[in-house]
Amino acid sequence: MSNVEEKLARSLTGESTAIIPYLPYLLQDLWELGALPSEINNLISSHIPITKDTRILDLACGKGAVSINLAKSFGCRVKGIDIIPEFIDYAVKKAYEHGVENLCQFQVEDINQSVTTEKDYDIVIYAAVGDVLGHIQDTILKLKGTVVKEGYILIDDAYSNKGNQETYVSRQQWLTAFRDTRVKLVAEKTTDENSMEAINQYNQACIIKRAQELQAAHPDQAGLFAAYIQSQQEEIDDLQGDITGVVWLLQAV
Ligand SMILES: C[S@@+](CC[C@H](N)C(=O)[O-])C[C@H]1O[C@@H](n2cnc3c(N)ncnc32)[C@H](O)[C@@H]1O
Repeated sequence: MSNVEEKLARSLTGESTAIIPYLPYLLQDLWELGALPSEINNLISSHIPITKDTRILDLACGKGAVSINLAKSFGCRVKGIDIIPEFIDYAVKKAYEHGVENLCQFQVEDINQSVTTEKDYDIVIYAAVGDVLGHIQDTILKLKGTVVKEGYILIDDAYSNKGNQETYVSRQQWLTAFRDTRVKLVAEKTTDENSMEAINQYNQACIIKRAQELQAAHPDQAGLFAAYIQSQQEEIDDLQGDITGVVWLLQAV
């Protein structure tokens, strides 16, 4: 299995690449797949002089919830890129529904490719994507390459409160990475666990329902869907425990 596929499965909390063909079905009831669009909007409007001329790149945009909210709130132009064609189809449909189809462009592509061709944006967003672009230093450098000088980089991720772990690095390691890659930390917004709890529970209930339908339709694959539900639950438990969700707003200097 390719590295890209393994990371794709992981970015959506799947432990096995065998889950990939079923992800659009499992996640069909959700629009927001990672970041809270309102949180991103607030962080951007509090720190960046955003206008309708601001150009934003949303890498691994999922179904476009963050992109569309930004275009709708600020009238700015957003390009969203994701590797799952069904997610991009959904994003295009949603952009029409919200009347921002002229401001939003959505494209199917591996973002490892996009970072080599997409340049000169004012803001790049990398929300809930994990290690798709590599370790944190590599990720920051690749994101930095897509923005203008003094452009902004917004990363929605998490840190471990128990020091460096296999999946999550510590807060200190993020800060060291910012220093090593020469980006300025403009703002740090940690996730309010209480407000996330209800959202997580609702999302998990939707996913369980769809996983049960898949179990009934493909009994030979029942273990695969059960494992997906379990890994989703483990991530929710982690975020209520030793892991802190965080949005970093950085500036390329
Ligand atoms: C947890 S979702 C986050 C989506 C969105 N950023 C949000 O916050 O709603 C992770 C996304 O990463 C995408 N992804 C994973 N690997 C990718 C790759 N190599 N190129 C493009 N998108 C990728 C997945 O398809 C999925 O939509």
